[in-house]
Amino acid sequence: MQINPAKKAAAEKAVTFIQPGMTIGLGTGSTAYYAILRIGELVREGMPLRAVATSVQSEDLAREQGIPLIDFAAVDKLDIDIDGADEADAQLQLIKGGGGALLREKIIAAASSQMIVVIDESKLVKQLGHFPLPVEIIPFAWELTFKKLQTLKAAPVLRKKDGQLFVTDNGNYIADCHFGQIADASSLHAQLNDIPGVVENGLFIGYASRIIIGCDNGALKEISR
Ligand code: 5RP
Repeated sequence: MQINPAKKAAAEKAVTFIQPGMTIGLGTGSTAYYAILRIGELVREGMPLRAVATSVQSEDLAREQGIPLIDFAAVDKLDIDIDGADEADAQLQLIKGGGGALLREKIIAAASSQMIVVIDESKLVKQLGHFPLPVEIIPFAWELTFKKLQTLKAAPVLRKKDGQLFVTDNGNYIADCHFGQIADASSLHAQLNDIPGVVENGLFIGYASRIIIGCDNGALKEISR
């Protein structure tokens, strides 16, 4: 795989916030990938850490890296969640789910004291909505859920991968919704999750505590609250 220096630098900076003994949330995607590799190095150097993963893909990578994974029964609160995003704005609002892991990602973000988001500068936007908003829907009567999304002018497209219907780690489908510019993310979030059949949507509002942005010129920028 070709290395992406901006994503790698942002992810490795996020890992510097990890302290020995912490419980970590491992994100999903090509930026979180670099964080998992660096966390693996810390573990192999002897740092005591434990982790939970936001996807089967990240769980497999963590296992390969020797990162101790724990059961949710053993977790009350995570210390730091490090994850990527598809879009982020200056208010630390995010669109996530490009990799289809939004539901587990949101559960873990909500259980974490800090969510550190790692992106390259192409993901930082003035207003969310250029990236189609992923909405996870259950397969049962998905056609009806789809119609409800259409009434919200979502222009939903059922996600496919390699010509097959994309199925999430939770056995659900993803409707990629084309709202265009999202002026009121909170209200849209509430409207979407109010539809029976919608399990969760990819708007992350009030979760991120810090965004680390890797730039093409090698610089790092940060937004925090
Ligand atoms: C997966 C996600 C990812 O964090 C998001 O798609 C960004 O991925 P990448 O770092 O590969 O650009 O939300 O569900």
